[in-house]
Amino acid sequence: MGDDMTGAPVNDGNQGHTDGTDPGADLGIDTGQDPGTEHTARRDEAVQAAVEQGLLGPGAPIAALLDVTGVRESAAALRAAFDAVTAPGTPVLHAFAVKASPLVPVLRLLNEEGIGAEVASPGELALARAAGVRPERTVLDAPAKTPAELREALALGIAVNADNPQELERIDGLMRSATSRSPLGIRVNPQIGGGSIAALSTATATSKFGVALRDEGAREWVVRAFAERPWLTRLHAHTGSQGIPLSLLARGVEETYRLAEEINARLGRRQIDTLDIGGGLGVNFGSDATSPTYAQYAQLLKEAVPGLFDGRYGLVTEFGRSMLAKQGTVVARVEYAKSAGGRPIAITHAGVQVATRTVYAPQSWPLRIAAYDGKGRPKSGADVVQDVAGPACFAGDLLAEGQALPLLEQGDYAAALDTGAYYFAAHYAYNSLARPGIYGFVRDGAGGVSFATVREPQTVAEIVAESGGAHAAALTTLRAPGSR
Ligand SMILES: Cc1ncc(COP(=O)(O)O)c(C=O)c1O
Repeated sequence: MGDDMTGAPVNDGNQGHTDGTDPGADLGIDTGQDPGTEHTARRDEAVQAAVEQGLLGPGAPIAALLDVTGVRESAAALRAAFDAVTAPGTPVLHAFAVKASPLVPVLRLLNEEGIGAEVASPGELALARAAGVRPERTVLDAPAKTPAELREALALGIAVNADNPQELERIDGLMRSATSRSPLGIRVNPQIGGGSIAALSTATATSKFGVALRDEGAREWVVRAFAERPWLTRLHAHTGSQGIPLSLLARGVEETYRLAEEINARLGRRQIDTLDIGGGLGVNFGSDATSPTYAQYAQLLKEAVPGLFDGRYGLVTEFGRSMLAKQGTVVARVEYAKSAGGRPIAITHAGVQVATRTVYAPQSWPLRIAAYDGKGRPKSGADVVQDVAGPACFAGDLLAEGQALPLLEQGDYAAALDTGAYYFAAHYAYNSLARPGIYGFVRDGAGGVSFATVREPQTVAEIVAESGGAHAAALTTLRAPGSR
């Protein structure tokens, strides 16, 4: 791994190696604390078992694997981290950001682990409900909520964070005509700056999210909004995601806390009783080590904003990527191995459809590729600098460019690591490439691996149906009067 000028991690193909580019580095956090050895071992066993059990093979050239043990461990680590820093009895809701893994079985698993849902669209809300996540464990944060969505959320009693004054006006209207159990808040943008990935930096001066606190009159407007609405009890901020230094995340929380203190002091009552601190903890894509950990982040927050944890405020968190990324792997068969301009190229079945961000913004989203042989066993041998390409019909469809790993040959498997969040679960339908099957796995206790289907592979019949197959003649029969 190397580092570019922006501080975004850049993959030079060095696998299984931790360096100074991971998100914990700005705090001098020891990245070697949790090397992820067990995690690596489970993944290797799962890839081999997936080949042996036919989930991967010539007729099933791509599959996504989800480490169920890892997901449970991740949820437990999050709960323990905040339990360790909050005063006894503090209400804490960890709401998983559904966008990171919009899969009903994943949401059900997390729900069983005590993790709720943060939703940002009607579809995500429907997924959370299908998973059985209760309304009081659900938070709605979408930036473009319609009146109907707001009405539904308030009827269900789901927490809602209003993004802007116009949205608050809509909520006013609904609150006049009905009562609701929904905890209601305002999302603010502390405007403290961005990180190394502009597209994921939500606290810049001109970010589209929340009330821009430092704009003229905005802070006063927020104070007044609370003064006039005793039912507004929460403040929300999400400072950004991957690429935001931990210290900046902590500052975002601190600014939000300060505003809550100011509002409560000016109103002379503890009207704001809960702070929603968003998600955003970064993931180390450079090795199997989990870094930074939830425990490190929670500790940092406690040091930066001690008053937040003394029991006067309830807490909501909205982590996504950090919960799931390292638990997922896309494995794709090498259909052909070729060479161009002296560069070996493995043509695989995983590309832009499952790794959209990596393909379009490779500097910001480098992925490590692990090489497995045709039986799903880790490949050994000298590292060879090579490209790992996807199946889509454009030149940039590369999972990795110039990455050093054992030479991938026809019939081998290439695994894109740390793809459990925002990758295979966020399919991009370029070239009408099918959504791959997703399979959860656990060790079976007898030396093998058990799988469960999370999502069936998409069939070509489904692709036709979703692409207007039922309306084949719709355009040829639609004629303007008098036209030929
Ligand atoms: C409001 C909000 N909360 C939480 C998240 C989850 O962020 P992450 O996956 O980085 O933890 C996002 C991501 O876009 C978000 O917009």
